[in-house]
Amino acid sequence: MPGHQAGDACRTLEPFVTTKMEGLEGLGLPIVQRFAEEADAQNKIESELGVGTTATLWFPSRRAAGADSRIWSSARGHASQLSRRAPRRLRKGYKCPVVCRTLPKSRFAQWLDARLPLPRLIHDQFIAFQTPRNLNVWYTFGAILAFCLGIQIVTGIVLAMHYATNAELAFDAIEHIMRDVNYGWLIRSIHANGASMLVIALYIHMFSGLCYGSYKAPRELLWIIGVIIYLLMMAIAFLGHVLPWSQTSFWGATVIINLFSSIPVVGPYITTWLQGDFAVGAATLNHFFALHYLLPFILVGVVAPHIWALHVAGNNNPVGVEVRSGKDTVPFHPYYTTKDMFYVILFVIALAYFVFFTLDFFASPNNYEPAHRLKTPPDIVPEWYFLPFYAMLRAIPHKLSGVIVMTGAILTLFFVPWLDTSPTRSNRFRPLIKRFFWGLVIASVLLAYCGAQPADAVVGGVPVAWIARLATLYYFGFFWLIMPLVAMIEIPDKLPASLAQSVHAGAVEADIHRAQLWPANGTVGPAAPANTRSASILGTTRRRRPSAIREPAPCTSV
Ligand code: HEM
Ligand code: HEM
Repeated sequence: MPGHQAGDACRTLEPFVTTKMEGLEGLGLPIVQRFAEEADAQNKIESELGVGTTATLWFPSRRAAGADSRIWSSARGHASQLSRRAPRRLRKGYKCPVVCRTLPKSRFAQWLDARLPLPRLIHDQFIAFQTPRNLNVWYTFGAILAFCLGIQIVTGIVLAMHYATNAELAFDAIEHIMRDVNYGWLIRSIHANGASMLVIALYIHMFSGLCYGSYKAPRELLWIIGVIIYLLMMAIAFLGHVLPWSQTSFWGATVIINLFSSIPVVGPYITTWLQGDFAVGAATLNHFFALHYLLPFILVGVVAPHIWALHVAGNNNPVGVEVRSGKDTVPFHPYYTTKDMFYVILFVIALAYFVFFTLDFFASPNNYEPAHRLKTPPDIVPEWYFLPFYAMLRAIPHKLSGVIVMTGAILTLFFVPWLDTSPTRSNRFRPLIKRFFWGLVIASVLLAYCGAQPADAVVGGVPVAWIARLATLYYFGFFWLIMPLVAMIEIPDKLPASLAQSVHAGAVEADIHRAQLWPANGTVGPAAPANTRSASILGTTRRRRPSAIREPAPCTSV
């Protein structure tokens, strides 16, 4: 039961146990007795309440309260006689705080746990944490992002050891890293390509959040913290690009910093402050290096509440139905640790391809020319991940309006939780918004394409500026008009009664699909998988119980 922290029996148990224990009046004694009578009391309690849940239960005796130290770990010695305020039928029992969790096994971990509950925190949040059982591949991108962030920090620190924060030396320092430093080329290549891969993962993570309605209550803050992370990430990547002090760095910094000068009254002051001078120069490089070093650590500080907020609300999932019972979840470890690890490895293989085979795939040729303030390159374009915003900026002929539109495009994301008023979360069950959502994906790709073209380019007889204008209009229209309006008129598809049921239905559907693909034994075509073949031999529709709905494994000690 993710998200439940503490509470008394009534509050914590109500949604789960009372509905399940029909015939047993309310809460308290009967439930505990029933649990106690069952052989697998610990598993039952853990799967009903969720490991890490704190509840106050009533026990028939003090002895029962401390019966099993593994279940009632924190209850031992704390049982207190019921107060007069307790319901009459419970007055004979003992009231006791119960933490449904297991104790660390090793003596050192127990020692540490008693003083600084770090093993407990890790166990509760990353091992026993109850996670929806139907998370798909798009849910591995959070872990991939965390991994990438770690890689960027480690490689960044090594690069900083060899880098020179000096406008005269910076460009040569990069060449020194590439040619003289042992494995310097590898570290830099991982850092530079890793940044692009990180942003790819970031965009996938954001679009999947939008697709599954993960920004809706109770996860609004989780989303908002995500948007802050996005802003920080963009700032970090921009600052990083200035460090090699190439033509791209110098002119990229000049263009972006200049945007601030269009802000009325304070604009010029902000520009000078950012530059550290009256033009982009040596002082700018110093500023940017200091910030590029600092901000990733601030980012880590923002990712922490992001994960915290996630663990309070619990994961959303592709069907968008909330977790209702232990049957809807599986422990994070080993189910999702292995899944995440598998996709992290695939991601590393993709990164390795760029690092080893096309080292400069994401880079511009101007990156190999030292910064020169008197030589403006004709084809200066920002990094690919800024292109949609750059296209918006250029689509508007007036500079300040362009800046407002570009900033508005990002700020809009903060309001998404309130712009979408549909009670159905996932786009899977929203036939109308699903189509408009793909329109948003296409508009974003079109914007990126337009951003990469020269300002006066014409594609198929249409000026790119106009394509960019239409795509910008769609972007804003999607969030500010389509989202609220569609929520009013759309009739969502029927939601599954529970998450477990949707998994079951999905598995049965897959089985039926498989049986249709391989209808009968002996027909021409690929061999059928064992289970469907036997089913078709028997001529029955009886199927193996899908492995996906097996009961979660009992939680073990740390
Ligand atoms: C370094 C950056 C980030 C890291 C390390 C990170 C990490 C995570 C992790 C580990 C999860 C849980 C697993 C998953 O759903 O993938 C998650 C979920 C989520 N993240 Fe992020 N995240 C980052 C950036 C963002 C950004 C930029 C946004 C949105 C603007 C965002 C919004 C969300 C949302 C809405 C969820 C909940 C998904 C769900 O339960 O359906 N995150 N994040
Ligand atoms: C979210 C984390 C980070 C991102 C997205 C990021 C991104 C970037 C990018 C895109 C570049 C330019 C690469 C190039 O074209 O050569 C760069 C350069 C650099 N970064 Fe980072 N960085 C991150 C974290 C860090 C950290 C934590 C440090 C130092 C502690 C660091 C130190 C450097 C240095 C010294 C350079 C210049 C060397 C070079 O250009 O390869 N970075 N960074």
